[in-house]
Amino acid sequence: MFILKNYTEYIEKKILEIDLPEKPNNLYEPIRYFLNLGGKRIRPILTLLAAELFGIKKGNVLYQALAIEIFHNFTLIHDDIMDEAMLRRNKETIHEKWDKNIGILTGDVMLIQAYQLLSKNISPNTLKDVLLLFNKTAIEVCEGQQSDMNFEHQENVSIAEYIQMIRKKTSVLLGCALQLGAIIASASTEDKDYIYEFGINIGIAFQIQDDILDLYGDPEKFGKKIGGDIIANKKTILYLTALNKADKEELKMLKTLKNEKNIELKIKQTRELFNSLKIKEDCENLMKSHYEKAKKALSQITVLEENKEALIALSKYLMNRDV
Ligand code: IPE
Ligand code: IPE
Ligand code: MG
Ligand code: MG
Ligand code: MG
Repeated sequence: MFILKNYTEYIEKKILEIDLPEKPNNLYEPIRYFLNLGGKRIRPILTLLAAELFGIKKGNVLYQALAIEIFHNFTLIHDDIMDEAMLRRNKETIHEKWDKNIGILTGDVMLIQAYQLLSKNISPNTLKDVLLLFNKTAIEVCEGQQSDMNFEHQENVSIAEYIQMIRKKTSVLLGCALQLGAIIASASTEDKDYIYEFGINIGIAFQIQDDILDLYGDPEKFGKKIGGDIIANKKTILYLTALNKADKEELKMLKTLKNEKNIELKIKQTRELFNSLKIKEDCENLMKSHYEKAKKALSQITVLEENKEALIALSKYLMNRDV
């Protein structure tokens, strides 16, 4: 995207410069493969933008930005095992191309590499704060992931519980990415809180959009199996909104569809039911309401308004993305 192109290219270049040993080849090759698949790189870009927002150069947070991206990629590799996903960024997932054990161990290595990167080019005092935030975030991501898995088999999940779940599995990492930049730039306590709040709401909107795209995305662009969440009986925002809106007949249909073995039929009929209930529109409105909350948090930050433009552009892009 226009304004952010430089940032994406910067991250893309630096991520490929990360030194990876040759042997054992089947430990490091999958990491190289995965990091070469691209991706939007939004989390490290958030760290760079937050640093600049609070007046320091992006080079000063480069390693921490890369740490966040490596951590994110680790979570994707393990998430694909947990979700039994075969496609990621339009290519085979690690456990599909190699096997599950390789996926587990490459993920483990990447988590440790994230810590190595976090500790680079940073004073001991700042590192203390960075680790406090990062450790809390990493644990919350695991908690969110577990809730996501638990919800597959849980009948009654409220929208509030869903929001809590996505806050942990997705949003806190965006909040963390931003706050890391703010910490290293020595922003005030209030501003650190506001930038985190901005990230949390962008993150919630982002995961809602991810749920929408999982069913309504363009298969060529989205890069993941369309309908994957329906196959896995995920309690997505689409599904929960449908449960709330459905009448008796429609509820019965949703229950029957849950056990449908013909996968393409299951996706098609669920989509038709969602369409007739106008579920996508409701979810888009919920997404927009979090986008507005995010903008409000950003507006509280005490820096020049014009310095916020890149973050606003990034969040707009995220709301309208098809990838
Ligand atoms: C996917 O994240 C996982 C979610 C939290 C929805 P992204 O959509 O940022 O994935 P990449 O890194 O761009 O592939
Ligand atoms: C992923 O949620 C969240 C994390 C990776 C922690 P999803 O399972 O919805 O992500 P995608 O859709 O596979 O990218
Ligand atoms: Mg998942
Ligand atoms: Mg997944
Ligand atoms: Mg998803």
